Amino acid sequence: MRILVTGGAGFIGSHLVRRLLADKDHRVVNLDALRYSGNLDNLTDVSNHPRYAFVHGDICDPKTVEKVFKDHDIEAVINCAAETHVDRSILDPSGFARTDVVGTAVLLEQARQAKVARFLQVSTDEVYGSVKEGWSKEEDALAPRSPYAASKAGGDLLVQSYTTTFNLPAVITRGSNTYGPNQYPEKFIPLFVTNAVDDQPLPLYGDGRYRRDWLSVFDHCAAIEHIFRRGEPGGIYNIGGGNERENLAVAELILKHLGKPMSLIRFVRDRPGHDRRYAVDCRRLHALGWRPTVSFEDGLRATVDWYRSHESWWRKIKSGEFRAYYEQVYGQRLNEGSRFDVQS
Ligand code: DAU
Repeated sequence: MRILVTGGAGFIGSHLVRRLLADKDHRVVNLDALRYSGNLDNLTDVSNHPRYAFVHGDICDPKTVEKVFKDHDIEAVINCAAETHVDRSILDPSGFARTDVVGTAVLLEQARQAKVARFLQVSTDEVYGSVKEGWSKEEDALAPRSPYAASKAGGDLLVQSYTTTFNLPAVITRGSNTYGPNQYPEKFIPLFVTNAVDDQPLPLYGDGRYRRDWLSVFDHCAAIEHIFRRGEPGGIYNIGGGNERENLAVAELILKHLGKPMSLIRFVRDRPGHDRRYAVDCRRLHALGWRPTVSFEDGLRATVDWYRSHESWWRKIKSGEFRAYYEQVYGQRLNEGSRFDVQS
Protein backbone atom coordinates (compact mmCIF):
# COMPACT_ATOMS: atom_id res chain seq x y z
CA MET A 1 0.00 0.00 0.00
CA ARG A 2 1.22 3.51 -0.81
CA ILE A 3 0.74 5.41 2.44
CA LEU A 4 1.02 9.14 3.00
CA VAL A 5 2.23 9.86 6.55
CA THR A 6 1.94 13.54 7.36
CA GLY A 7 4.17 14.99 10.07
CA GLY A 8 6.49 12.02 9.61
CA ALA A 9 9.54 13.97 10.79
CA GLY A 10 8.00 14.57 14.21
CA PHE A 11 8.10 12.40 17.31
CA ILE A 12 5.27 9.89 16.78
CA GLY A 13 5.40 10.32 12.99
CA SER A 14 9.05 9.30 12.67
CA HIS A 15 8.58 6.16 14.76
CA LEU A 16 5.54 5.31 12.68
CA VAL A 17 7.37 5.80 9.36
CA ARG A 18 10.08 3.40 10.52
CA ARG A 19 7.53 0.86 11.69
CA LEU A 20 5.55 0.95 8.43
CA LEU A 21 8.70 0.56 6.33
CA ALA A 22 9.43 -2.70 8.14
CA ASP A 23 6.50 -4.16 6.17
CA LYS A 24 7.66 -4.96 2.63
CA ASP A 25 4.16 -4.30 1.28
CA HIS A 26 4.25 -0.62 2.20
CA ARG A 27 5.69 2.41 0.46
CA VAL A 28 5.75 5.49 2.68
CA VAL A 29 5.63 9.12 1.61
CA ASN A 30 6.37 11.55 4.42
CA LEU A 31 4.92 15.05 4.00
CA ASP A 32 6.26 17.40 6.65
CA ALA A 33 6.46 21.19 6.89
CA LEU A 34 9.57 20.89 9.11
CA ARG A 35 8.42 23.52 11.56
CA TYR A 36 10.11 23.79 14.93
CA SER A 37 9.54 20.19 16.06
CA GLY A 38 9.82 18.46 12.68
CA ASN A 39 13.34 17.09 12.51
CA LEU A 40 14.90 15.02 9.72
CA ASP A 41 17.57 13.89 12.19
CA ASN A 42 14.83 11.58 13.47
CA LEU A 43 14.90 9.64 10.19
CA THR A 44 18.55 9.50 9.10
CA ASP A 45 18.50 5.68 9.23
CA VAL A 46 15.71 5.42 6.63
CA SER A 47 16.36 8.50 4.49
CA ASN A 48 17.72 6.38 1.60
CA HIS A 49 15.26 3.53 1.99
CA PRO A 50 14.00 2.38 -1.45
CA ARG A 51 10.35 2.43 -0.33
CA TYR A 52 10.52 5.86 1.38
CA ALA A 53 10.13 9.38 0.00
CA PHE A 54 10.21 12.72 1.77
CA VAL A 55 8.28 15.78 0.59
CA HIS A 56 8.80 19.14 2.28
CA GLY A 57 5.41 20.83 2.44
CA ASP A 58 2.44 21.98 4.46
CA ILE A 59 -0.83 20.04 4.81
CA CYS A 60 -2.68 23.38 4.81
CA ASP A 61 -1.70 24.03 1.20
CA PRO A 62 -4.18 22.27 -1.14
CA LYS A 63 -1.85 22.47 -4.16
CA THR A 64 1.00 20.78 -2.33
CA VAL A 65 -1.29 18.07 -1.01
CA GLU A 66 -2.89 17.47 -4.41
CA LYS A 67 0.55 17.13 -6.02
CA VAL A 68 1.72 14.59 -3.44
CA PHE A 69 -1.37 12.48 -4.02
CA LYS A 70 -0.88 12.57 -7.80
CA ASP A 71 2.91 12.13 -7.87
CA HIS A 72 2.82 9.15 -5.51
CA ASP A 73 -0.56 7.64 -6.32
CA ILE A 74 -1.51 7.67 -2.64
CA GLU A 75 -3.86 4.90 -1.45
CA ALA A 76 -4.05 5.64 2.27
CA VAL A 77 -3.34 8.49 4.70
CA ILE A 78 -2.17 8.59 8.31
CA ASN A 79 -2.41 12.14 9.60
CA CYS A 80 0.17 12.75 12.31
CA ALA A 81 0.84 16.38 11.35
CA ALA A 82 -0.23 18.70 14.14
CA GLU A 83 0.68 21.50 16.47
CA THR A 84 0.72 19.53 19.71
CA HIS A 85 1.99 21.45 22.71
CA VAL A 86 -0.55 22.86 25.18
CA ASP A 87 1.77 25.57 26.54
CA ARG A 88 2.46 26.88 23.03
CA SER A 89 -1.28 26.92 22.32
CA ILE A 90 -1.69 29.17 25.35
CA LEU A 91 1.05 31.54 24.10
CA ASP A 92 -0.28 31.65 20.51
CA PRO A 93 -3.42 29.67 19.62
CA SER A 94 -3.69 30.77 15.97
CA GLY A 95 -1.35 28.22 14.37
CA PHE A 96 -3.20 25.40 16.13
CA ALA A 97 -6.54 26.02 14.40
CA ARG A 98 -4.69 26.34 11.11
CA THR A 99 -2.74 23.06 11.16
CA ASP A 100 -5.03 20.89 13.27
CA VAL A 101 -8.36 21.97 11.72
CA VAL A 102 -7.68 23.53 8.30
CA GLY A 103 -4.83 21.11 7.53
CA THR A 104 -7.04 18.13 8.37
CA ALA A 105 -9.81 19.58 6.16
CA VAL A 106 -7.41 19.90 3.21
CA LEU A 107 -6.21 16.31 3.62
CA LEU A 108 -9.73 14.96 3.96
CA GLU A 109 -10.89 16.65 0.79
CA GLN A 110 -7.96 15.31 -1.21
CA ALA A 111 -8.42 11.84 0.30
CA ARG A 112 -12.10 11.89 -0.68
CA GLN A 113 -11.31 12.84 -4.26
CA ALA A 114 -8.57 10.20 -4.50
CA LYS A 115 -10.98 7.59 -3.04
CA VAL A 116 -8.39 6.34 -0.57
CA ALA A 117 -8.80 2.92 1.00
CA ARG A 118 -8.05 4.25 4.47
CA PHE A 119 -7.70 7.55 6.34
CA LEU A 120 -6.37 7.36 9.89
CA GLN A 121 -6.54 10.48 12.03
CA VAL A 122 -4.15 10.58 14.97
CA SER A 123 -6.27 12.44 17.52
CA THR A 124 -5.76 12.62 21.29
CA ASP A 125 -7.38 11.76 24.61
CA GLU A 126 -7.31 15.50 25.38
CA VAL A 127 -10.45 15.97 23.28
CA TYR A 128 -12.46 14.53 26.22
CA GLY A 129 -11.24 17.24 28.57
CA SER A 130 -10.36 16.64 32.21
CA VAL A 131 -11.80 13.42 33.69
CA LYS A 132 -12.41 13.57 37.43
CA GLU A 133 -13.11 9.88 37.83
CA GLY A 134 -13.69 6.86 35.61
CA TRP A 135 -12.43 6.49 32.05
CA SER A 136 -13.48 8.28 28.86
CA LYS A 137 -15.29 6.12 26.32
CA GLU A 138 -15.16 6.75 22.57
CA GLU A 139 -18.82 7.82 22.46
CA ASP A 140 -18.43 10.37 25.29
CA ALA A 141 -19.07 14.01 24.42
CA LEU A 142 -15.96 15.99 23.55
CA ALA A 143 -15.13 18.73 26.05
CA PRO A 144 -11.71 20.14 25.11
CA ARG A 145 -10.38 22.89 27.36
CA SER A 146 -7.14 24.23 25.83
CA PRO A 147 -6.79 25.82 22.38
CA TYR A 148 -4.67 22.79 21.45
CA ALA A 149 -7.31 20.26 22.54
CA ALA A 150 -10.10 22.28 20.90
CA SER A 151 -8.20 22.35 17.61
CA LYS A 152 -7.64 18.60 17.74
CA ALA A 153 -11.34 18.12 18.54
CA GLY A 154 -12.15 20.20 15.44
CA GLY A 155 -10.02 17.92 13.24
CA ASP A 156 -11.49 14.83 14.90
CA LEU A 157 -15.08 16.01 14.21
CA LEU A 158 -14.26 16.87 10.61
CA VAL A 159 -13.02 13.31 10.06
CA GLN A 160 -16.25 11.96 11.57
CA SER A 161 -18.27 14.20 9.24
CA TYR A 162 -16.47 12.77 6.19
CA THR A 163 -17.31 9.23 7.29
CA THR A 164 -20.96 10.10 7.78
CA THR A 165 -21.43 12.31 4.73
CA PHE A 166 -19.08 10.82 2.17
CA ASN A 167 -18.50 7.28 3.45
CA LEU A 168 -14.78 7.97 3.69
CA PRO A 169 -13.25 4.81 5.23
CA ALA A 170 -11.70 6.72 8.11
CA VAL A 171 -10.65 5.66 11.60
CA ILE A 172 -9.68 7.89 14.52
CA THR A 173 -7.20 7.09 17.28
CA ARG A 174 -7.23 8.94 20.60
CA GLY A 175 -3.93 8.20 22.27
CA SER A 176 -2.85 9.08 25.79
CA ASN A 177 0.37 10.87 26.85
CA THR A 178 3.17 9.43 24.77
CA TYR A 179 6.86 9.30 25.68
CA GLY A 180 10.05 7.81 24.27
CA PRO A 181 13.14 8.63 22.19
CA ASN A 182 13.10 11.65 19.82
CA GLN A 183 10.40 13.59 21.67
CA TYR A 184 10.93 17.35 21.41
CA PRO A 185 12.13 18.54 24.81
CA GLU A 186 9.25 20.93 25.43
CA LYS A 187 7.15 18.00 26.69
CA PHE A 188 7.15 16.97 30.33
CA ILE A 189 9.34 13.84 30.28
CA PRO A 190 12.10 14.94 27.85
CA LEU A 191 12.17 18.42 29.42
CA PHE A 192 12.64 17.00 32.89
CA VAL A 193 15.21 14.41 31.77
CA THR A 194 17.36 16.90 29.86
CA ASN A 195 17.11 19.58 32.57
CA ALA A 196 18.10 17.04 35.20
CA VAL A 197 21.12 15.88 33.17
CA ASP A 198 22.29 19.51 33.30
CA ASP A 199 21.39 19.94 37.01
CA GLN A 200 18.78 22.51 36.02
CA PRO A 201 15.50 22.87 37.96
CA LEU A 202 12.48 20.76 36.94
CA PRO A 203 9.45 23.12 36.73
CA LEU A 204 6.48 21.16 38.10
CA TYR A 205 3.16 22.92 37.54
CA GLY A 206 0.82 23.56 40.48
CA ASP A 207 0.82 20.91 43.20
CA GLY A 208 2.33 18.26 40.89
CA ARG A 209 -0.64 15.95 41.56
CA TYR A 210 -2.00 16.07 38.00
CA ARG A 211 -2.42 12.63 36.48
CA ARG A 212 -1.63 11.28 33.04
CA ASP A 213 -1.70 7.79 31.51
CA TRP A 214 1.73 7.18 29.97
CA LEU A 215 2.02 5.30 26.68
CA SER A 216 5.33 4.25 25.11
CA VAL A 217 5.77 5.61 21.58
CA PHE A 218 6.52 2.04 20.45
CA ASP A 219 3.17 0.86 21.82
CA HIS A 220 1.42 3.93 20.41
CA CYS A 221 2.73 3.25 16.89
CA ALA A 222 1.96 -0.47 17.15
CA ALA A 223 -1.62 0.42 18.10
CA ILE A 224 -1.92 2.89 15.22
CA GLU A 225 -0.74 0.24 12.77
CA HIS A 226 -3.12 -2.33 14.25
CA ILE A 227 -6.08 0.05 13.95
CA PHE A 228 -4.97 1.08 10.44
CA ARG A 229 -5.18 -2.58 9.40
CA ARG A 230 -8.13 -3.82 11.42
CA GLY A 231 -10.21 -0.90 12.63
CA GLU A 232 -13.85 -0.68 11.57
CA PRO A 233 -14.41 2.07 8.98
CA GLY A 234 -15.84 4.99 10.92
CA GLY A 235 -14.43 3.55 14.16
CA ILE A 236 -12.88 5.58 16.96
CA TYR A 237 -10.33 3.90 19.21
CA ASN A 238 -8.83 5.05 22.50
CA ILE A 239 -5.21 4.05 23.05
CA GLY A 240 -3.95 4.07 26.62
CA GLY A 241 -0.80 2.73 28.20
CA GLY A 242 -2.49 1.62 31.43
CA ASN A 243 0.15 3.56 33.37
CA GLU A 244 -1.64 6.32 35.25
CA ARG A 245 0.81 8.30 37.38
CA GLU A 246 0.97 11.63 39.20
CA ASN A 247 3.44 14.09 37.66
CA LEU A 248 5.38 14.32 40.92
CA ALA A 249 5.90 10.54 40.93
CA VAL A 250 7.19 10.66 37.34
CA ALA A 251 9.60 13.49 38.21
CA GLU A 252 10.89 11.48 41.17
CA LEU A 253 11.43 8.39 38.99
CA ILE A 254 13.39 10.41 36.42
CA LEU A 255 15.66 11.83 39.13
CA LYS A 256 16.12 8.37 40.64
CA HIS A 257 17.17 6.88 37.29
CA LEU A 258 19.64 9.72 36.77
CA GLY A 259 20.94 9.65 40.35
CA LYS A 260 20.06 13.33 40.82
CA PRO A 261 18.68 15.01 43.97
CA MET A 262 14.94 15.59 44.50
CA SER A 263 15.81 19.20 45.34
CA LEU A 264 15.96 19.87 41.58
CA ILE A 265 12.15 19.83 41.58
CA ARG A 266 10.57 23.32 41.62
CA PHE A 267 6.86 23.86 42.21
CA VAL A 268 5.95 26.66 39.81
CA ARG A 269 2.85 28.67 38.86
CA ASP A 270 0.30 26.41 37.22
CA ARG A 271 -0.59 26.17 33.52
CA PRO A 272 -3.88 28.11 32.95
CA GLY A 273 -6.83 25.73 32.51
CA HIS A 274 -4.60 22.77 33.42
CA ASP A 275 -6.54 19.49 32.99
CA ARG A 276 -6.34 17.52 36.22
CA ARG A 277 -6.55 14.04 34.79
CA TYR A 278 -6.90 12.12 31.52
CA ALA A 279 -7.89 8.47 31.48
CA VAL A 280 -9.30 6.41 28.63
CA ASP A 281 -11.33 3.23 28.46
CA CYS A 282 -9.50 0.97 25.98
CA ARG A 283 -11.86 -2.00 25.88
CA ARG A 284 -12.76 -1.39 22.24
CA LEU A 285 -9.10 -1.59 21.19
CA HIS A 286 -8.49 -4.63 23.39
CA ALA A 287 -11.45 -6.35 21.69
CA LEU A 288 -9.74 -5.60 18.37
CA GLY A 289 -6.81 -7.68 19.61
CA TRP A 290 -4.24 -5.13 20.77
CA ARG A 291 -2.73 -4.41 24.20
CA PRO A 292 0.30 -2.38 25.30
CA THR A 293 3.50 -4.30 26.02
CA VAL A 294 5.90 -1.74 27.58
CA SER A 295 5.76 -1.24 31.36
CA PHE A 296 6.16 2.39 32.40
CA GLU A 297 9.19 1.70 34.60
CA ASP A 298 11.05 -0.11 31.77
CA GLY A 299 9.96 2.38 29.13
CA LEU A 300 10.95 5.38 31.23
CA ARG A 301 14.35 3.90 32.09
CA ALA A 302 15.04 3.18 28.38
CA THR A 303 13.93 6.72 27.51
CA VAL A 304 16.19 8.29 30.12
CA ASP A 305 19.07 6.16 28.77
CA TRP A 306 18.29 7.28 25.22
CA TYR A 307 18.48 10.98 26.15
CA ARG A 308 21.68 10.31 28.06
CA SER A 309 23.29 8.66 25.03
CA HIS A 310 21.93 11.13 22.43
CA GLU A 311 23.01 14.43 23.91
CA SER A 312 23.91 15.92 20.54
CA TRP A 313 20.31 15.35 19.33
CA TRP A 314 18.70 17.39 22.11
CA ARG A 315 21.49 19.90 22.76
CA LYS A 316 21.13 21.09 19.16
CA ILE A 317 17.43 21.68 19.79
CA LYS A 318 17.80 23.25 23.20
CA SER A 319 20.39 25.75 21.97
CA GLY A 320 18.16 27.08 19.18
CA GLU A 321 14.62 28.55 19.03
CA PHE A 322 13.85 26.64 22.20
CA ARG A 323 15.77 29.07 24.43
CA ALA A 324 13.44 31.99 23.78
CA TYR A 325 10.41 29.73 24.26
CA TYR A 326 11.81 28.38 27.53
CA GLU A 327 12.48 31.86 28.87
CA GLN A 328 8.95 32.97 27.95
CA VAL A 329 7.22 30.03 29.64
CA TYR A 330 9.52 29.38 32.58
CA GLY A 331 11.71 32.44 33.23
CA GLN A 332 9.35 34.21 35.62
CA ARG A 333 7.89 30.97 36.98
CA LEU A 334 11.28 29.65 38.06
CA ASN A 335 12.13 32.93 39.80
CA GLU A 336 8.97 32.67 41.91
CA GLY A 337 8.97 28.84 42.29
CA SER A 338 9.57 26.88 45.49
CA ARG A 339 11.91 23.95 45.99
CA PHE A 340 10.59 20.46 46.56
CA ASP A 341 12.35 20.06 49.92
CA VAL A 342 10.86 23.35 51.19
CA GLN A 343 7.31 22.47 50.17
CA SER A 344 7.31 18.82 51.29
O1 DAU B 1 -2.87 13.20 26.33
C1 DAU B 1 -2.24 13.28 25.09
C2 DAU B 1 -1.58 14.60 24.99
O2 DAU B 1 -0.50 14.60 25.88
C3 DAU B 1 -1.13 14.95 23.59
O3 DAU B 1 -2.25 15.06 22.77
C4 DAU B 1 -0.37 16.26 23.59
O4 DAU B 1 0.14 16.53 22.31
C5 DAU B 1 0.76 16.19 24.56
O5 DAU B 1 1.41 17.43 24.62
C6 DAU B 1 0.29 15.75 25.93
O6 DAU B 1 -0.40 16.82 26.62
P1 DAU B 1 -0.05 17.24 28.14
O7 DAU B 1 -0.35 18.66 28.33
O8 DAU B 1 -0.64 16.24 29.09
O9 DAU B 1 1.54 16.96 28.08
P2 DAU B 1 2.80 17.75 28.68
O10 DAU B 1 3.99 16.91 28.40
O11 DAU B 1 2.83 19.15 28.26
O12 DAU B 1 2.48 17.72 30.25
C7 DAU B 1 2.27 16.51 30.96
C8 DAU B 1 1.92 16.89 32.39
O13 DAU B 1 3.06 17.48 33.00
C9 DAU B 1 0.81 17.90 32.50
O14 DAU B 1 0.03 17.65 33.65
C10 DAU B 1 1.55 19.22 32.67
C11 DAU B 1 2.78 18.82 33.44
N1 DAU B 1 3.97 19.64 33.19
C12 DAU B 1 4.36 19.79 31.88
C13 DAU B 1 5.44 20.58 31.57
C14 DAU B 1 5.89 20.77 30.14
C15 DAU B 1 4.66 20.24 34.24
O15 DAU B 1 4.31 20.08 35.41
N2 DAU B 1 5.74 21.03 33.91
C16 DAU B 1 6.14 21.24 32.62
O16 DAU B 1 7.14 21.98 32.42
